[in-house]
Amino acid sequence: MGIIDREAARAILRKNDRGGYTVPNGRVYPFQWNWDSAFVALGFDTFDRGRAWTEIETLFQAQWEDGFLPHIVFWKDDPGYFPGPSVWGTGKNPVTSGITQPPVAATVVRNMWESAKSADEGEHYRQRLEALFPKLLAWHRWFHDYRDPERRGVVVAMHPWETGRDNSPEWDAPGESIDVSSVGDYVRRDTSHLDAKMRPTKLEYDRYLALVQFGRSTGWDHARISADNPFQVADVGMSMILLRANRDLARLADDLGNSDDAAEIRSWIDLAEGGIGWLWNDDVQAWCSRDLLTGRSSGFITSASFLSFYAGLQDARRDEAMRRHFDRIAGLVEYMVPSLDPADPGFQMVRYWRGPVWAVVNYMIGTGLSEAGDRERGEKVRGDTLALMERNGFYEAYSPIDGSGSGGDDFSWTAAIGLAWADR
Ligand code: GLC
Repeated sequence: MGIIDREAARAILRKNDRGGYTVPNGRVYPFQWNWDSAFVALGFDTFDRGRAWTEIETLFQAQWEDGFLPHIVFWKDDPGYFPGPSVWGTGKNPVTSGITQPPVAATVVRNMWESAKSADEGEHYRQRLEALFPKLLAWHRWFHDYRDPERRGVVVAMHPWETGRDNSPEWDAPGESIDVSSVGDYVRRDTSHLDAKMRPTKLEYDRYLALVQFGRSTGWDHARISADNPFQVADVGMSMILLRANRDLARLADDLGNSDDAAEIRSWIDLAEGGIGWLWNDDVQAWCSRDLLTGRSSGFITSASFLSFYAGLQDARRDEAMRRHFDRIAGLVEYMVPSLDPADPGFQMVRYWRGPVWAVVNYMIGTGLSEAGDRERGEKVRGDTLALMERNGFYEAYSPIDGSGSGGDDFSWTAAIGLAWADR
């Protein structure tokens, strides 16, 4: 296990490097994406430490004054992507989108920091850490200020794209209340690069655009969006990821001797540990996203449901229920972890977040399981992920049934996870 072609993986990162930031894939995604860059930094960190830090530093150059960190930074325009900068209309410099993405950056920075220290380069990187820390803190504070209105310690997504799991079925029912009647005509670019059967549907795209138009109509005012957005879903993925990221940020605060900051961060951790149980669904015995506007739990078991281990939640009964789901699903697929439970009637092995396996989510699930002491399942996830890369190359995602690549090829974050996991 772990015999991926490291040279090929490095070559993908170099090819997709645009000088200070890396595009996920040159054709389909020609800009800087938020959580992609964080995972990409983990890959660079295995062979070019300085470049890894630069990836994150470049991303934070696009941070807004209120702490918000956008999901796309349009450093250069490119007609190959829709919706581009003129559709978002955020009026920022650099030009950015107006929504965010899962906050994995603090965890990645902690990882890079630990790796610098163990290579005896801690002194050298300390200044860079000191400069990044307040930016990470401001972004996390932004989540707590604007995305957790009921103070439950969860993250409320205002757009399916914020979750990073764009067309997961979790967003179907909450999306029904989005008015798409005035979206108007537009031309998608994704389906001219890739087979439409792998991509979200027209109805889903109409909803994505209606939400962009709503945000724009508020002047991207985060307080107004949080009050009036027609889509507000507590995403189990982002909620688990933020809880985990807060644990890592608190450790960074300790290392830097920032005790006031550490106390503030630990208050967020306490809040989440007390409140995140709201996302547990007793009927299906799993962690599920929940619609804030209707109070309804999605009832969908997705790969994000397994992030509770990564979040460091320790609840013997719930952990046991999740392990049972894991073993049941492992009996239905060749490769773990499918983005949707294959027992669900909506499961589709090649449609984006309704079935395919994603290396970055696997990385978090596998890491979480191993850290929680479940090495067997953790290694199963790691082994399956590396096997997919070994056999089929570095795709955006893969079919859990036959392992075939789905979406774009030569994909940056997949190559990065290959490097990070193979070199461990
Ligand atoms: C898709 C994915 C999202 C990712 C982006 C760039 O939109 O769903 O998670 O960040 O592509 O790779």
